[in-house]
Amino acid sequence: MTKPRLVLGIESSCDETAVAIVGEDRRILAHQVLSQREHLAYGGVVPEVAARAHLQHMDHLVEDSLREANVTLDDLSAIAVTAGPGLIGGVLVGVMTAKAIAQVRGLPLIAVNHLEGHALTVRLTDDNVSFPYLLLLVSGGHCQLLVAKDIGEYTRLGTTIDDAVGEAFDKTAKLLGLGWPGGPAIEKLAAECPDIKAARAKYPLPRPMMGKAGCDFSFSGLKTAVRRVIDEFPAGDIPRAEAAALCASFQETVADILRDRVKNAVDEYMRLDPAAPSLVVAGGVAANKRLRAVLEGMAGERGLRFIAPPLKLCTDNAAMIAWAGMERFVRGMVDAPDFAVRARWPLDPAAGIVAAKSQKV
Ligand code: KG4
Ligand code: ZN
Repeated sequence: MTKPRLVLGIESSCDETAVAIVGEDRRILAHQVLSQREHLAYGGVVPEVAARAHLQHMDHLVEDSLREANVTLDDLSAIAVTAGPGLIGGVLVGVMTAKAIAQVRGLPLIAVNHLEGHALTVRLTDDNVSFPYLLLLVSGGHCQLLVAKDIGEYTRLGTTIDDAVGEAFDKTAKLLGLGWPGGPAIEKLAAECPDIKAARAKYPLPRPMMGKAGCDFSFSGLKTAVRRVIDEFPAGDIPRAEAAALCASFQETVADILRDRVKNAVDEYMRLDPAAPSLVVAGGVAANKRLRAVLEGMAGERGLRFIAPPLKLCTDNAAMIAWAGMERFVRGMVDAPDFAVRARWPLDPAAGIVAAKSQKV
């Protein structure tokens, strides 16, 4: 039997420096992720610091990946790399590394859209996910509902008009002094709340866009409301039990908003009459167990199969980039070696930019 083809993937669009090797048989042979700790002191990612850290770590992560997979560069069939969207200095580090390896070894090169990496992860971890599927993409920079129709073919149904959902988690966590990234910290503290119903009654939070037509989102009102609650405490010093209740209320409110918006998207998606209707959730926020449970329940009610990547493949990693590269490589979709990096790169270029301030496409 011929050996499965292997793709080495590189990810460096934000604060994870990552390299992975994935086979066309869906095996992840190497999975190296280095979450940069350099940003902790700043409470957010500093682009220049990120780029320098990628530069410092990239080469040895490539070596570690080859060692982990027990292969050499000669065993690879192609190199895939995140070419955007993201922090451009960091993206450049990954892309220059990928181009150098490809050039020296004469290997095909695939420029991967980071968002497509998230979008296709479930096809790596599950061999039975067919197009079209409804995709909720929720990360630190994005909150979008799309129909994934094929590789490179997405129709956006809705997006956030202000903050991304991960951003809302991060900002709320910062207000509560929980450190960064905020999502996992909020999920952990919310679990300490003994009575979610009582927490919501005590700390009701707004649910912008709820009940409105369409599939757009808004989250910026949430952090303002959280700030008001914290300001009620002397010197903003909120006791742990109260912070836990506030986190629980916040998480449930986000769940309500997502459920409501995804419901509308399901109606639009079902008009396509998909053979195997599925709701896929992807991106860092998809690691949240409560949100997964709520979305799974809703999908079940509507007769959709619910699919989410395993937790470690929700947040940024290079296995998803290697896999997106593999999907393209096996279809002959390779890129010229002089491809450009892209700070912005929407999955659905026809969808345009939505009204408000911080939409990161
Ligand atoms: O996909 P990702 O790793 O990076 C981007 O492409 O943005 O997503 C990171 C985001 C951060 O905002 C982080 O707080 C959030 O995902 N996140 C979570 C959880 N784990 C990560 N949000 C809620 N609950 C979690 N368990
Ligand atoms: Zn991401």
